[in-house]
Amino acid sequence: MDVHVADHPLIAHKLTYLRDKRTDSPTFRRLAEELMTLLAYEATRDVRVEPFEIETPVAATTGIKLSNPKPLIVPILRAGLGMLEGMVNLLPSAEVGFLGMQRNEETLEPVTYANRLPDDLTGRQVFVLDPMLATGGSMADAIKYLVDRGADDITAVCLLAAPEGVDHLREQAGSLGVPVKVVLGTIDEKLNEKGYIVPGLGDAGDRLYGVV
Ligand code: URA
Repeated sequence: MDVHVADHPLIAHKLTYLRDKRTDSPTFRRLAEELMTLLAYEATRDVRVEPFEIETPVAATTGIKLSNPKPLIVPILRAGLGMLEGMVNLLPSAEVGFLGMQRNEETLEPVTYANRLPDDLTGRQVFVLDPMLATGGSMADAIKYLVDRGADDITAVCLLAAPEGVDHLREQAGSLGVPVKVVLGTIDEKLNEKGYIVPGLGDAGDRLYGVV
């Protein structure tokens, strides 16, 4: 599994304000979107393209365009929704599917409670969005779910990760037989006994959308 941690002062600056408990929801949402757009630039480095002939006003030339089928973006509900606009800003022609995964707060095990995805993902390049890679359980499950339906190239994008989550994902991804790449804003210190990333930013879903 290829892990890429963004090393950019603008990302570090925005992450600092995102973490700050004084940051209100509207600002949190804006920062999450901006961070996603910055990470999307890294995450799409290997997006599939093909040659494309055009004529400029001066001469014929060959450029490139995104290949078909277009990439699929899958935010994991609910917190992943906060990253969707930031990704779509950069990949407006991508399709979007949804996967609802929730943690059982006692066992910390992920449970799939909703999905709206194409039935057949054969040959699809998929970008999976979730702001927090904590235990790595939901992300590993989501990736397996997508690979079982044919996806053959997966990039997970997360704003923050715990080392435990990266390790878990690495273990799980090894047996999937498809390339898995992880693009992260940063890797934090650890996971606490309640499954929160430390220092982290608290509950990303609650900070985006309130406690519902
Ligand atoms: N999910 C969150 O929203 N926050 C954490 O710290 C861990 C998982």
